[in-house]
Amino acid sequence: MEKNSLSEEIEKLVDLYGKERSSLLPILQAVEKKHKYISDFAQQEIARVLDIHPVEVFGVITFYSFLTHQPKGRNVVRLCQTITCDILGKKSVADAIQRELGIKFGETTKDKKITLEYANCLGMCDQGPAMLVNDQVYSHLTPEKAVEILSKIE
Ligand code: FES
Repeated sequence: MEKNSLSEEIEKLVDLYGKERSSLLPILQAVEKKHKYISDFAQQEIARVLDIHPVEVFGVITFYSFLTHQPKGRNVVRLCQTITCDILGKKSVADAIQRELGIKFGETTKDKKITLEYANCLGMCDQGPAMLVNDQVYSHLTPEKAVEILSKIE
């Protein structure tokens, strides 16, 4: 039942964006936006409808950090790992976040509340270390400030 509705949804996206290879990314973005991740089944269906190999679909998903093939938590925390934030103390913030959440980067808490990821430059280099909690940017982080921000996530 669910599989059929997902197949229909993907076919509608292909109608909207077209069957060319260049349609792959917007279709993946649309599926990610709606479902928060792109399941194995969705990948197979997209490959089938676009007449490309599923490995190609998977390759695109793993190339772009904003696409994912695993379900995420209800909130996503992304800490900038790029050089300026690194120099400004990213490591101590990262350690504090991992300690507080009891997970490592790339993991999701058991209660599915938070997924923790690294991100590349968030455009806040002069105010690093910086992180995103969902769409909200936080800057000038210290380990204490980061833990306080985490404590307010619902
Ligand atoms: S290097 Fe972290 S926001 Fe630019």
